Formats: sequence, C-alpha cells, structure tokens
Amino acid sequence: MSNRAVSYAGPGRVEVIDTPYPEFELKDGPGVNPANVGRKVHHGVILRTIATNICGSDQHMVRGRTTAPEGLVLGHEITGEVVEVGRDVEFVPVGDVVSVPFNIACGRCRNCKEGQTGICLNVNPDRPGSAYGYVDMGGWVGGQAEYVLVPYADWNVLKFPDRDQAMEKILDLTMLSDILPTGFHGAVGAGVTVGSTVYVAGAGPVGLAAATSAQLLGAAVVIVGDLNADRLAQAASFGCETVDVSKGNPADQIEQILGVPEVDCGIDAVGFEARGHGADAATEAPATVLNSLMEITRAGGSLGIPGLYVTGDPGAVDKAAQEGSLSMRFGLGFAKSHTFVTGQCPVMKYHRGLMQAILHDKVSIAKNVNATPIGLEDAPQGYAAFDEGAAQKFVLDPHGLIPR
Ligand SMILES: NC(=O)c1ccc[n+]([C@@H]2O[C@H](COP(=O)([O-])OP(=O)(O)OC[C@H]3O[C@@H](n4cnc5c(N)ncnc54)[C@H](O)[C@@H]3O)[C@@H](O)[C@H]2O)c1
Ligand SMILES: [Zn+2]
Ligand SMILES: [Zn+2]
Repeated sequence: MSNRAVSYAGPGRVEVIDTPYPEFELKDGPGVNPANVGRKVHHGVILRTIATNICGSDQHMVRGRTTAPEGLVLGHEITGEVVEVGRDVEFVPVGDVVSVPFNIACGRCRNCKEGQTGICLNVNPDRPGSAYGYVDMGGWVGGQAEYVLVPYADWNVLKFPDRDQAMEKILDLTMLSDILPTGFHGAVGAGVTVGSTVYVAGAGPVGLAAATSAQLLGAAVVIVGDLNADRLAQAASFGCETVDVSKGNPADQIEQILGVPEVDCGIDAVGFEARGHGADAATEAPATVLNSLMEITRAGGSLGIPGLYVTGDPGAVDKAAQEGSLSMRFGLGFAKSHTFVTGQCPVMKYHRGLMQAILHDKVSIAKNVNATPIGLEDAPQGYAAFDEGAAQKFVLDPHGLIPR
C-alpha cells in the first residue's frame, strides 16, 4: 500500500511526500524519540483519513519557531474510517467513522485515569503529553496523510453514530479532534457561564471556537480581539463584538462596549507569537496577551489559556524568550487572585458532548470558523494562505470524500 503525507521541509515550507503505509509498530523517522522506535502498537487501528485540518499549532513549527526536524510528517487533527484493526483492539471494528483526539493517551496511567489525557505519562519519553505529528511529542506520525496509525484505539477514538449523518456534517465534526474542544476548554477554564462577559484574544480558528463555546455556555457578551480585519469580521458574523488591538489597548475598547474596562472571563487564543498592542502591533511581544488579560479580567476571575507557550523558541525576540521565559506581570494576577488554566486541552473530556451538540444542530462550528476543504496535494497553498492570516480553517481531504 502507498501513502502520501504533508511534511515539514524547513522554515516556511511544507511538501507532500510519499511515505510508508502505517504498520502496528512505531518505526524510526524524523522526530521519533529513540526510546519509542520499535514500539509495538497492537492496540492501534489504521484509519483512512477523511478530514485532517491545518492548525495554528502546525504553523509554529512551519514558521521555524520550534526545533521540529525537517521531514516530520505533520497533522494532529484527524477524522477517518477504520480500515485495519490491531490484534489487541476489542471494540473498534473496521468501517467505524471516528474522531481522534489530538492528544495521544494510554488510558492506563494516573493522569489518564484522572481525565488529564493531555499529559499522559506513557506515550512520550520526553515529557508528559503527546500528539500526532508534533515536535517533542514522542514521534507519533502525523495524520495529514492518506492513512494514519492511531494507538490505544479502544481508549482514544470517538465513534460517530451514523456514517451518512457523519458525512453530512463532516466539516463540523472534523473540528472535534482539536479546536472545538480546545476553544470550549478555554471557555470552561475561564469560568464562562450564563450571563458572563468574555474577552477572547485571537480570532484565529481557536479563538473563534472559544467564542462559539462561550456563546454555547450562555455568555451575555463575547468580545473577540485581533489585529486581522478579516478575522474580526468573521467573529462579527456570528454575533461577537470585536476589538482591533492594533488601534490600542483592549481595555479602552472593552469599556466602550461594556461601560467598564473589565470582563468576567479572559481567554488567550494567541500564544507565544503574540503581537504588541497599538503602536507596537507590528512587533512580537510574547507576554502581551497574558499581561493584558490580567489587566482586563475581574478580580477573582480566571484566565483560560489554550494559546501555546513553549519551553524553547529559536526565533524568539530575546534570550529569555528563547527559553520560554516571558516578562509577565505575575504580581498583578496574584493581586487579583486570578486562576490560570493552561496546557493541552484534554479533548476526551468534551468531545462526546460537543459531538451531540453538532449532531443536534446546537452549534455551527464549521460556519463560524469558515471551514474550507482542499485536497491533500494543495496543502502547501493552504499553509501559505493560513500563514498570511486568511479567515479560514483549512480542512485537508486526502481521498476526495468531502462534499464541496
Ligand atoms: N492548548 C491546546 O490544546 C491548543 C490546541 C490547539 C491550538 N492551540 C494554540 O492556540 C493558538 C491559536 O491557534 P489558531 O489555530 O487559532 O492560530 P492562529 O495563528 O490562526 O491565530 C492566532 C491569532 O492571534 C492573533 N493575534 C496576534 N497577537 C494578538 C494580540 N496581541 N491580541 C489578539 N490577537 C492577536 C493573530 O493575528 C491570529 O489571527 C496557537 O498558539 C495554537 O498553537 C492550543
Ligand atoms: Zn490543532
Ligand atoms: Zn496515560
């Protein structure tokens, strides 16, 4: 069997390459941790990929802002059909159409047992937590490919109840592998509930998913900030208020909307490549969003922080930031008794409920993030457009199965 996949080809470049068809063993390859080479995966299934999305998390690697090695096969947002089942899989038959959480988790360790699947202890020899196709995550091969191996399948996959119904809503359901649960986790972490006022920094797909989730949770007002006009228009298209951070500090613009320069809940959907505010918007200032959320979130409030922060950034603005040390005004957060909720989203906590919300028409995530299907071979153009700030979420369709 042949296989094609999207691979990182050095700063600013991805290419579509021939790559081995998966086996029930993790083979050596770019980014595979030596301690994971030869690992048997009889608990895995092989999927024919139906939809696999490009993410801002991929962009950090493709921009050369991580230590990702060239040749790394990308892709952690995976939805597909089971075509082969490993010897030790009991409950996932061939033919199931499933969503795969981007976190790889064993289901056996202390953290998995406590629902913390984003920091599984058994899948990545480097550190807790793993993902497909990602630097420092153990070397599990990415799913922006025709076929992909999913380990611990009985534990990890979420089956869609009906194949035809799933294919009808595939552009919504594909967001269950990452951004919808991630945005929802951001909103839950920020304490969003009925009547909350919410500020979401970032109008990329994760920010828009967080805003969508805040609405689903009953927020009174959802304000989305960015410096990209097209993305702000996308947020406004489904009822969010907007703040253009290139025009100045969000606090002033929030005051114009709410009458007070403060919100109940703050969400960071930007991460370490944050731009400054106002006159500084042309330059990178990695602690900007964290500092401004502490400023605008009410005393006693929470900060949901799905935006990614790293322990090493070769392209950082200064030496401290190269090691992930940021100039945070932590004393302000302390003074206001803020809670900080960080880390990978434990997708499994939320994906079943959000699937039901999609299947019963309670949420329109594909429309809200402007999901745009493209062929696998068009991935380089998709990456380029996303990097330029297109107000789109690109969904790769390796087998031409997604209705256009
Ligand atoms: N924690 C998790 O589990 C998880 C999962 C998925 C993605 N992520 C992370 O979430 C972040 C967002 O992902 P995405 O796909 O939406 O990325 P993206 O790059 O498309 O979006 C980021 C947006 O932030 C905007 N921005 C930059 N500086 C800003 C500022 N100071 N204020 C407001 N907006 C600003 C950019 O213009 C851009 O539109 C990334 O860091 C990604 O790695 C985390
Ligand atoms: Zn992602
Ligand atoms: Zn585990």
